Amino acid sequence: MPIKYLFQAGNYISQVEDTLYGSFVEHLGRAVYTGIYEPGHPQADENGFRLDVASLIQELQVSTVRYPGGNFVSGYNWQDGIGPKEQRPVRLDYAWLSKETNEFGIGEFYKWSQKFGVTPMVAVNMGTGTPQEAGYFVEYANIKGGTYFSDLRKQHGFEEPFNFKYWCVGNEMDGPWQTCHLEAHEYARKALETAKIMHWVDPSIQLIACGSATTTLPTYPEWDRVVLETVYDEVSCLSCHHYFENHTGKIEDFLGSYVLMDNFIHTITSTADFVKAKLRSKKDMMISFDEYNIWSINGEPWMDYFNRDPNNRFTKAPPLLEQHYTFLDALVLGGLMCTLVNHCDRVKMASLAQLVNVIAPIFTQPGGAVIKQTIFYPFKWLSVYGRGKALRYFANVPCIETIHGQTKTLQSAAVYNDERKEIAFFVLNLDQKQDQEISFVLDGFGKVELFEHHELSGCPLDAMNTFETPDAVTPKVVPVTAAEKESLTVKVPALSFNLYRLKVEGEL
Ligand code: AHR
Repeated sequence: MPIKYLFQAGNYISQVEDTLYGSFVEHLGRAVYTGIYEPGHPQADENGFRLDVASLIQELQVSTVRYPGGNFVSGYNWQDGIGPKEQRPVRLDYAWLSKETNEFGIGEFYKWSQKFGVTPMVAVNMGTGTPQEAGYFVEYANIKGGTYFSDLRKQHGFEEPFNFKYWCVGNEMDGPWQTCHLEAHEYARKALETAKIMHWVDPSIQLIACGSATTTLPTYPEWDRVVLETVYDEVSCLSCHHYFENHTGKIEDFLGSYVLMDNFIHTITSTADFVKAKLRSKKDMMISFDEYNIWSINGEPWMDYFNRDPNNRFTKAPPLLEQHYTFLDALVLGGLMCTLVNHCDRVKMASLAQLVNVIAPIFTQPGGAVIKQTIFYPFKWLSVYGRGKALRYFANVPCIETIHGQTKTLQSAAVYNDERKEIAFFVLNLDQKQDQEISFVLDGFGKVELFEHHELSGCPLDAMNTFETPDAVTPKVVPVTAAEKESLTVKVPALSFNLYRLKVEGEL
């Protein structure tokens, strides 16, 4: 018997915000230099922006891009990256022990974002930085003119303000690896005073406070409570960060990573709701899941990771965190992204970390080609077809036991798009042997037609896309059979991630 997925018109979770499909570019490794920016590359424009890379970013329909970090931002003075390039200082970057030339700074990022249609999400330095420097940054970016920093921007060739809307108040300040890491109460006070100044300069901006950097820190989730109790009224979102790894070596545990993300979001929304009640507030705190991805540190101790090869310190754009993604990683990412959609009533922003070269869906050769990594595809499906209203549904899905406890073997999300009058249904089958028959039962949607099926399946779990074989892992479009159309029943292959598109007649 097929598993029935029951949908009812009008029964939806929330609007999926476009900002759920953001990503992240940090001054780290080759994300900026030889990633998005490489003057002299045959595909670079007059600004040095790589057009081959930009066209893949546009294919992904990335909404926001978080910049300039990440750990990098906690030692970064934004004023190093403005004005004439030849006068900018070359600095030591404490986060990644690299050399930062500052050829690419906030003005270049703004230009790049405008040219390629992404919305900037910028971060201020809460490590070595001060509340006043954060205020100056907002002034430089968002004040029209007539003050020192806004006029400086004009002198730098930007007559109109950048009008940055989304601002992260620091990055992972709970992490002992962070430059000038703080205790929860210290960060909370500093973030509050910084947020006040930033809002005085521009009351329209939306601020994101640092939440837990991972669930494995001993401060989780107490950090989030302490921070929220102090900054609640000043911020719109609290951040969550989490990277997923195959810790146990068991495929089912890794594929079940979505449960970990789900639990994380539950914990943080519950903590936020506790604080809301305590403060007698009427506002719901939203979540910005602004770092998530698969990152296989391969058991390397976290701190050692940052203090890399002692013979390779302080070079410009060293190849760091250049993970080559597998077919299995793509399946895991599909499951994680379904979880984000299913929580879209509280998760209003998210950033796949990162975008180019550094744990990223897009990978370049300096001076050479660019390829799509395996994780490019699930991100693209969700980003392109996962906009609209996330539907609630009921399905009685069999479970298996994993490290996360009882884990559903199918992880899915469904989004209704009003303009296209269609439902996109995304589903991961994490069972390693069992194909699963499912049928769509839609109540109140009028005439329904299943018209397209995309499938990522049938590859060795360790298959990767390389410069030699860039299409080793690519999705296929599987023709929808007459029987499937008739019965709205389909077979979801074992170990696959799928997109089904259904045309519907009625309004939601
Ligand atoms: O994305 C890589 C790093 O992971 C980021 O710099 C940091 O915020 C996180 O620890």
